[in-house]
Amino acid sequence: MSSLTDTLGRPLHDLRISVTDRCNFRCTYCMPKEVFGREYEFLAREQLLSFEEIDRVARAFVRAGARKLRLTGGEPLLRKNIEDLVSLLARIPEVEDLTLTTNGSLLARKAEALKAAGLNRVTVSLDSMDDTVFMAMNDVGFPVQKVLDGIEAAAAAGLSPIKVNMVVKRGVNEDSVVDVASHFRGTGHVVRFIEYMDVGTTNGWRLDDVVSGREIVQMIEAAFPVEPIDPDYRGEVAQRYRYLDGAGEIGVITSVTQPFCGDCTRARLSAEGQVYTCLFAGKGSDLRALLRNGGTDEDLDQAIASIWSVRADRYSEIRTSQTVSIRPKVEMSYIGG
Ligand code: GTP
Ligand code: 5AD
Ligand code: SF4
Ligand code: SF4
Repeated sequence: MSSLTDTLGRPLHDLRISVTDRCNFRCTYCMPKEVFGREYEFLAREQLLSFEEIDRVARAFVRAGARKLRLTGGEPLLRKNIEDLVSLLARIPEVEDLTLTTNGSLLARKAEALKAAGLNRVTVSLDSMDDTVFMAMNDVGFPVQKVLDGIEAAAAAGLSPIKVNMVVKRGVNEDSVVDVASHFRGTGHVVRFIEYMDVGTTNGWRLDDVVSGREIVQMIEAAFPVEPIDPDYRGEVAQRYRYLDGAGEIGVITSVTQPFCGDCTRARLSAEGQVYTCLFAGKGSDLRALLRNGGTDEDLDQAIASIWSVRADRYSEIRTSQTVSIRPKVEMSYIGG
């Protein structure tokens, strides 16, 4: 086991891999239409890491200590033959958890192939049970039922436990919190309510739009009593609660009101091979040039060790109204959450 740690003593445990910067949704908090319109220049095909290149980088991160791999995007299921990448990564013996975060739109079509390729589980984003609210948030008129069909297909394929992510934005979908909780109670799927974050620079984030995790728990508590439970693993981003009547558990992810940088063990790889050591970073470190210029595995190992060993990121802990507006920050659709 690697003993690589950063300047704050944090080991490397997770690698989040973005496989595309494209998405078929235009969630207002992530890819607002006005910015990600027809003229927007997404990465070109040759800029993207190939599956073989991603596998090589993932193996190097595993040698550096990573044990959990998550595929993200944009929307990862838009990447052609994504199940072929899953089967490459599923062959890395040290990987304990191989998972994927998706908007669910293509899941009904893809769930079985993903499971057969060796994916362990999925996390599906769903921001409301109400079509009017959900369509206004995804901004492409995508209906709730199709996401639910995707979740059902994933459950039937055995991609479980399934997590459902709901980003809560004040005045937009806070009324859906109890509905979403209620829908998934008793299904075995775990809903996580996420505080709206100031990622990137295009979503017009304001602190007033954040519904705190505390408020969210209070809303749920009023309908279904809950109690806090211990984290599943060190560095888990969600605080967990269980329903007192035994109908399962929920989580809240409070990056804004109760940051969790102290235990942050996540590295992020962009679709074009840049490594970011924080979701809110302005700059990454390129690995693609090394891969394409004949770099050896030892070169990769060294590059990763030098990136991680100087890491000092703790953005959410030092966030101020100033850092929100003046720092250059990478977009969520580019780095994948
Ligand atoms: P599990 O492995 O199922 O516990 O998933 P996860 O919570 O690690 O990942 P997921 O992709 O479901 O992310 C849930 C939410 O937490 C998203 O909004 C992410 O952007 C956010 N998140 C994940 N990691 C970090 C992080 O390191 N920092 C911050 N600020 N937010 C994060
Ligand atoms: N704040 C919080 N969560 C966000 N996500 C995307 N943008 C934001 C934001 N600004 C969520 C997605 C997905 C997860 C990976 O990140 O809804 O569930
Ligand atoms: Fe796409 Fe997910 Fe961003 Fe929505 S939050 S636009 S589904 S990448
Ligand atoms: Fe990690 Fe950066 Fe998120 Fe803090 S803000 S938990 S350092 S990714």
